[in-house]
Amino acid sequence: MKVLYINSCIRENSRTKTLADYLVNKIGGNVKEIVLSKEKISPVDSAFLQKRDKLISEGNFNDEMFSYAKDFAEADVIVVAAPYWDLSFPSILKVFFEHINVLKLVFDYSDKGEIVSLCKAKKLYYITTKGGYGPDDFGFRYIEALSKTFYGIRDVVLINAEGLDIYGNNVEDILAKAKEDIDKVV
Ligand SMILES: Cc1cc2nc3c(=O)[nH]c(=O)nc-3n(C[C@H](O)[C@H](O)[C@H](O)COP(=O)(O)O)c2cc1C
Repeated sequence: MKVLYINSCIRENSRTKTLADYLVNKIGGNVKEIVLSKEKISPVDSAFLQKRDKLISEGNFNDEMFSYAKDFAEADVIVVAAPYWDLSFPSILKVFFEHINVLKLVFDYSDKGEIVSLCKAKKLYYITTKGGYGPDDFGFRYIEALSKTFYGIRDVVLINAEGLDIYGNNVEDILAKAKEDIDKVV
């Protein structure tokens, strides 16, 4: 089983990473971790799009620019670790998703114009931690919508530890509770 672990944690001693590592260890399998902060991944620009469109039209997916998309399409399980930043997640994760949304590799269109997934995965875990309490988690909802619309992943599981930066809260207790949540779903 191929597990793709997309790690968008930025801070040292990231609590999100602690939980995501715990979950990934529980899943087991053949894990490939992409630590986005260590990757040479740039926002998509005009030259990138022109090159990508040309290669897609030629059916040529050998270029290095498609490696993330291939990893994503071939994984059996996807794990996304994403700290809660500004009601969403770190921007580098958005850049990653712009890189993987490749026509004819990750999704395609049917004759009727419907989106058809080309991904193997049927399950995605989204792990986040929040300083406060975030009912408006646009980051999770965005990844969930992408998963269901483009990737054919209906089973999207949220692991969410909240209130970690609120004075008086017991961080260890909150993280322990989140690990119990993980134990229930993995
Ligand atoms: C740039 C930045 C933006 C943040 N935005 C929010 C926010 O909108 N709401 C919130 O409750 N906490 C926010 N936080 C606090 C983080 O969600 C919290 O500390 C989280 O546990 C960080 O995850 P980490 O330990 O994996 O880095 C923010 C933290 C940073 C560094």
